[in-house]
Amino acid sequence: MSATKCHRCGDRAAIELRQHRMVYCAECFLRHCREQVRRTIDRHAMLSSDDHPLVAVSGGKDSLAVWDILLDLGYRADGLYLGLGIGQYSERSAEHAREFAKRRGPRLIEVDLADEAGFAIPQAARGARPACSACGLSKRHMINRAALEHGYEVVVTGHNLDDEAAVLFGNVLRWEVDYLARQRPVLPESEGFARRVKPLVRLSERETAAYCAIRGINYIIEECPMAGGNRHLAYKEMLNQLEERQPGAKLSFVSGFVNRVQPMLSHAADAGNADEAEVHPCSRCGSPTTSEVCAFCRLTDRVRDAAPTGRRGRRRTRRAAQRSQH
Ligand code: AMP
Ligand code: FES
Ligand code: ZN
Repeated sequence: MSATKCHRCGDRAAIELRQHRMVYCAECFLRHCREQVRRTIDRHAMLSSDDHPLVAVSGGKDSLAVWDILLDLGYRADGLYLGLGIGQYSERSAEHAREFAKRRGPRLIEVDLADEAGFAIPQAARGARPACSACGLSKRHMINRAALEHGYEVVVTGHNLDDEAAVLFGNVLRWEVDYLARQRPVLPESEGFARRVKPLVRLSERETAAYCAIRGINYIIEECPMAGGNRHLAYKEMLNQLEERQPGAKLSFVSGFVNRVQPMLSHAADAGNADEAEVHPCSRCGSPTTSEVCAFCRLTDRVRDAAPTGRRGRRRTRRAAQRSQH
């Protein structure tokens, strides 16, 4: 690599992107990342120049990279960090989000799941659902609610090419046609829901990690301690092996789906759903739902029901809550 030159400007090479058959110096690589995001935003009409987006920041490389890129592209993008109560992992993640906001200046809103809902993810893991699924549901609900409460009409997430490829692979493997019809880079706003956009769908994890390293952005490197057994991790490993032998496989898998297949599926879903179940406010929290009580309020009930009772149980709950604070 050291003998190689940047294909764009001839400067010293910093990174090879086999999926694009390109070698870039550090500056041209940053430009490439911004360009990929700008193209994705334009192609899918994700944001307009007068939008005031809210970036959901986890403290990881992807959400910090997308926040940084949006600010560089001129968007007035603020951040939202949701405290999940996963011990030191959550504490360190929050610190990275705060450090970035302090350095670059935008507003960072912080919301704590335990304060808002009465439970943190370690307690939710005791309920009927696996941790990651309870966590995903809590994040969607709380991030959407916070965005609307603070007056933001669009939420940006850091889902990257590897995330999208793994989810797509899982959905295809089980032919989850309903999920495939909704796996879009833009989920338009609707009654009670802010628009959700994923501008990083063309950038891989390796690119966002390199982007943060070059830009000097500190992020949480460790994986979430509760993510063990998450099947998307296995799909990511498998897709990386394929990418190694066939550079560009992930990008063509995801972009082919997004541009060619997904529109047909959403179209068919829209046509077939003329008598779709009516959405109305949840009788408890007011969030839109097709049931009497929304999925997040049902999760809250399950977590409360699964909480141990009696003196020993209460001691255990107290200890678990204390552990989750360290
Ligand atoms: P994950 O669900 O961990 O794969 O994260 C996907 C995206 O959700 C991230 O790129 C962020 O945009 C958002 N996100 C994840 N965790 C948090 C959090 N604790 N607070 C705010 N946003 C988050
Ligand atoms: Fe949700 Fe780990 S971040 S379970
Ligand atoms: Zn509800």
